[in-house]
Amino acid sequence: MQESQLQARKRRILVTSALPYANGSIHLGHLLEHIQTDIWVRFQRLRGNTCYSVCADDAHGTPVMLKAQELGITPEEMVAQTRKEHHQDLLDFHVDYNNYYVTHSPENKAFCELIYKRLDDAGYISKRSINQLYDPEKEMFLPDRFVKGTCPKCGAEDQNGDNCDVCGATYSPTELKNPRSVVSGAQPVMKESEHYFFDLPQFEGMLKEWINSGAVQKEMANKFNEWFEQGLQQWDISRDAPYFGFEIPGAPNKFFYVWVDAPVGYMASFRNYCEAQGIDDTPYWSNNNDTELYHFIGKDIAYFHCLFWPAMLEGAGYRKPTGVNIHGFVTVNGAKMSKSKGTFIKGRTYLDHLNPEYLRYYYASKLNDGVSDIDLNLPDLAQKVNADLVGKVVNIASRCAGFITKRFDAKLSDNIIDQALLTQFQEAEDDIAYAFESRQYHKAIREIMHLADKANQYIDAQAPWVTIKDNSKQSFTHDVCSLGIHMFRILMIYLTPVLPKLSEQAQAFLNDDFSWDGAQTVKTGHSINKFKAMMQRVDMDKIEAMVEASKENLKETPSKKLSYETAGSTSSNLSADPISDTISFEDFAKVDLRVVKIVHAEAVEQADKLLRLELDLGGETRQVFAGIKSAYDPQNLIGKHTVMVANLAPRKMRFGVSEGMVLAAGPGGKDLFILNPDEGAQAGMRVK
Ligand code: 2FM
Ligand code: ZN
Repeated sequence: MQESQLQARKRRILVTSALPYANGSIHLGHLLEHIQTDIWVRFQRLRGNTCYSVCADDAHGTPVMLKAQELGITPEEMVAQTRKEHHQDLLDFHVDYNNYYVTHSPENKAFCELIYKRLDDAGYISKRSINQLYDPEKEMFLPDRFVKGTCPKCGAEDQNGDNCDVCGATYSPTELKNPRSVVSGAQPVMKESEHYFFDLPQFEGMLKEWINSGAVQKEMANKFNEWFEQGLQQWDISRDAPYFGFEIPGAPNKFFYVWVDAPVGYMASFRNYCEAQGIDDTPYWSNNNDTELYHFIGKDIAYFHCLFWPAMLEGAGYRKPTGVNIHGFVTVNGAKMSKSKGTFIKGRTYLDHLNPEYLRYYYASKLNDGVSDIDLNLPDLAQKVNADLVGKVVNIASRCAGFITKRFDAKLSDNIIDQALLTQFQEAEDDIAYAFESRQYHKAIREIMHLADKANQYIDAQAPWVTIKDNSKQSFTHDVCSLGIHMFRILMIYLTPVLPKLSEQAQAFLNDDFSWDGAQTVKTGHSINKFKAMMQRVDMDKIEAMVEASKENLKETPSKKLSYETAGSTSSNLSADPISDTISFEDFAKVDLRVVKIVHAEAVEQADKLLRLELDLGGETRQVFAGIKSAYDPQNLIGKHTVMVANLAPRKMRFGVSEGMVLAAGPGGKDLFILNPDEGAQAGMRVK
């Protein structure tokens, strides 16, 4: 779209971001999308367009239900709690939705029922029985991700129900060898049940046309064209009780699959907002209108948004999205996010250490309109923020403001000393607007920083700190510093969608109220306020502290099985290496823990950290090397009791064979011992 078209009329736009699941925290992967959306929305609003944005917590599905059970609360309670937390996290990153709602809402139930009825009436719904794995202990059908077992292709153990991490094979959970339920550990059985299907293949022609009409990026359209070649399938839209969701009308104990009601949640969140505000939301969902609808999503959930969702909308008589804006995943420091490395960073942990605008700026500087992954390189973030924002942009104001307030009565001069330079700043507006509009934020940032360099070079060359000392150059100095402030003001207008808080500070300092068009006016003779420091440099120590805190979070992470998502979508927008946060009960039961008496302890000369211990297991003596030299004087250990893992395979070390492992608990020093022999603990006892 050309710039002239962009501003030809005020647009009416509705924007959404993918709804975060209500069973986990917002992390830096999610934030890529929320920040990308928020920048676009703020840009539209700054341009004077009507732009609503809505989001919500995605409340339904098996993982949410099971997690609530584990916490001993109702899913409604858990979802209410998580929604509040998610919303606060987003607000603290200055992500400004008109409404942040939840899919477990009356509006969503009503919309789901209406859409379902329309689809059913139009003949798009059918029923048939299917066989699925069922957990006989927990009495529930198991989503693929809740079944584990041995890979049928390569024999690797403990693989997911639908794919193998080791050989990459994909298969059906019924093909797994030794399958077991992740929920109870029981062996699943096959069970038949009636399911409801949405007739997606009927929409193939429409979908092909829509996808290739520019509604999704070219690279994604190509991917979809490959999928079309394989043929579309009927979509199973029902789930059996127990399930946290909406019951399908006329189908007791059958619930809408979470992926049916999740996108409908966009409509419901907007309806909830519009009702409170007295706005008519129908033009945003009906065909033949002049409104625009955009969904921002990650590439992992493109299938749902570009096939099922437009087909549901079309089938129910609604408009299709104007665009589905798909982005890639986040990697951190060039690698998949890793819990153990502390690079799986929650939004709240970030906020505890760093300014949210650092991340907003960094993501903006990397974001484009493609679907390739974005690397969050933490030293690079520090370098960019320090060099660009602190060193260039804010520096322009801090170099000029003091002279204006102290020497020129806080008033900008009436004269523009270098109109050609200022014009360059104003004329850049078209390109920068186009870059924001087309989600090529990195180009907008590059252009803005290029201008910031020009402003600083100008100030360097004029050296107002020298001319201010010369009485004959007062008006010149006034003009130079005023031009510096004008340039700063224009740059801050352009940066407003990215850095709303910094922009607020700039507006307070400049005594101004920004609009995008404001860049074309110049505030000659205008009074400004005292300049206050606007942004601190990024401190690498704080980044390190955040990474350390993220490693700490790992210890609190709830069981992995509950962070699984149904449908194979994590939509975390991050590329994470799944680490095993939990072991199964069977794994735990394999560990033979015994009370032991330390009968001998000595330092291992050649090793900094090791003590050689001899442990009495009640008759048998074992040698164990333990890395606790720094904390304990071996002499003080002799005669004390502790717990060891007695069935750990012996390990040959440089100094001898270690025949087990001792468990140390407590803060260190002399507080290792968790058992008091006077209270009955005896060497050799099994720990239950
Ligand atoms: O993948 C996910 O995280 C989903 N909760 C996204 C839902 S987006 C929309 F369809 F609601
Ligand atoms: Zn395999």
